[in-house]
Amino acid sequence: MEELIHIKDKSFVPYISEQEIMDRVASLGAQLNQEYADKSPLMIVVLNGAFVFAADLARELTVNPEIQFIRISTYGDSMTSSKDAQLLLGLEVETEGKDVIIIEDIVETGFTVQYLIDNIRSHNPSSIKLVTLLFKPEKFEGGHKPDFVGFEIPSDFVVGYGLDYAQQGRELKALYQLKAD
Ligand code: IMP
Ligand code: MG
Repeated sequence: MEELIHIKDKSFVPYISEQEIMDRVASLGAQLNQEYADKSPLMIVVLNGAFVFAADLARELTVNPEIQFIRISTYGDSMTSSKDAQLLLGLEVETEGKDVIIIEDIVETGFTVQYLIDNIRSHNPSSIKLVTLLFKPEKFEGGHKPDFVGFEIPSDFVVGYGLDYAQQGRELKALYQLKAD
C-alpha cells in the first residue's frame, strides 16, 4: 500500500501513479508528433513546475523541438492562484515565425498562462498551442483553453511530478492530492 506524504503542515494521498503519468505523457508525445510532423516547434517550458513534465514529454518527441525555459512570478500564498503575473526570466527567446508550444504543469484560473500567451503573441509567432499536464476546469476563468491536457482534475490541491507545496514535493515521481483534515 502506498503511503501518505507529509509536507510541512499538510498530508497528501496518492492520486495519479507514476505509471499512469508515463502512459499519458507518451500518448501526448504521440499527439504532438502528429500535430507537428512537418514542423520544428519551439517548446517554451514554464518554470518551475513544468520541468519534470517537460523533460519526459520532450523525450517522446521526434520533431526536433527547440527547447527554452521561462519563469513567471505570481504573488499570493502557496495554495491559491493570483491574478498578478510578471515575467521574470525570458523572453529573450525568439518566437517570431515559430510554432510555439507552451508547456505548463497546471492550468487553474488560466491567468498565469494567459499573461504569457499575450506576451508571446505580441512577438508574432506563427502559432501558439498550450500543453498542460493538469487542468482544473472548475476554476478556469477564460482565455486560451489548453489545447492538449494530460489529466482533467477537480480543484483539490496536488503535489509531485514537478508541482510543489511551499517549494517542496517537486521530486515525487507520482501525483498526490491534499488529504482532507
Ligand atoms: P492559474 O494562473 O490560476 O492558472 O494558476 C496556475 C498556477 O497555480 C500554477 O502554475 C501553479 O503554480 C499554481 N497551482 C494551481 N493549482 C495547483 C496545485 O494543485 N498544486 C500546485 N500548484 C498549483
Ligand atoms: Mg506553474
